[in-house]
Amino acid sequence: MISEKDFILNNYTLSVENGSFQWSAPSNIALVKYWGKKDHQIPANPSISFTLNNCKTITKLTFEKKINDGKFSFDLLFEGQPKEDFKPKIQKFFERIFEYCPFLKDFHFTIDTQNTFPHSSGIASSASGMAALAINIMSLEKVLNPTISEDYFNQKASFLARLGSGSACRSIKGNIVVWGNHAEISGSSDLFGVEFPSSVHENFKNYQDTILLVDKGEKQVSSTVGHDLMFGHPFAEQRFSQAHHNLSAIKNVLENGDVEHFIKIVESEALTLHAMMMTSMPYFILMKPNTLEIINKIWKFRNNTQTSVCFTLDAGANVHVLYPESTKEKVLQFIKNELVGYCQNGQYICDEIGNGAVNCN
Ligand code: PMV
Repeated sequence: MISEKDFILNNYTLSVENGSFQWSAPSNIALVKYWGKKDHQIPANPSISFTLNNCKTITKLTFEKKINDGKFSFDLLFEGQPKEDFKPKIQKFFERIFEYCPFLKDFHFTIDTQNTFPHSSGIASSASGMAALAINIMSLEKVLNPTISEDYFNQKASFLARLGSGSACRSIKGNIVVWGNHAEISGSSDLFGVEFPSSVHENFKNYQDTILLVDKGEKQVSSTVGHDLMFGHPFAEQRFSQAHHNLSAIKNVLENGDVEHFIKIVESEALTLHAMMMTSMPYFILMKPNTLEIINKIWKFRNNTQTSVCFTLDAGANVHVLYPESTKEKVLQFIKNELVGYCQNGQYICDEIGNGAVNCN
């Protein structure tokens, strides 16, 4: 089994003076949710997600050798402009990964980052952002230690991304990614995401995700606080074992193409996530009235038209509408006719399953 120690870089030479890399990394949407973590970003339960295609962060990492004075040195640009408020998060990320990437204090970095989705759309950019930065850092590691394999490169990129933001580890490689030890997923690990190892049924190829932007405001409760509230939560143990069970079930569903069963698991997972928030102490609600209006409309439409459309939620009020590519026209028409009115400024984003991070050098 791979352990943390395997990700410590021991042999390398500071063989490069300066240069740059550029990677894009997508967001992802969990089907079985991660909610609750142990120390060092170890998940309390395994999760599985669809990798998205259009919602992504593009990050250019420029580096220049400096005297190692025991400090990290970096500038942070967002859409080409200095962004001071992002710096503490990056500083913390560097501190967490330094043990594994000891060369980080030997360079000055410029991190120039942008998202393809609108700023403050309520779409979490931490998954795509941390994944894009982590994989850039791996590109530098590969220059300093060219012997690493492609598998190790991706595993360590996911491992580093996880230390930035848990769910980011599912944004490196693959259409469908599992993160967290699970008895039936071979190779699964708490340390990094792995591509879903079975072959996936046609019904789930090119699955669509239209993200309805219900509320673009800042979240009242951050994911970090939410994860912590799973400590001592009255339903925690039940929830964690349910996630294992749902992952087994969704594994079969992804293999056999049973979209009806898929819908049941995915919607139950979304509502369970929010039920955990509502039953923690302190309790909180991230859904908005329009979130519920949309859910009810989706249920009504599904009943009336027998269309295989369902919803999921992440830690916010926005609704992800999931549906097979074969129903695309019908569902988009339904969204335009009946759901757009519940979106802030009528905004929504059409996305679909994607492959992971892309080298844009
Ligand atoms: O990666 P974090 O710490 O922002 O947590 C994300 C948790 C959920 O989005 C709610 C669920 C998930 O598995 O992505």
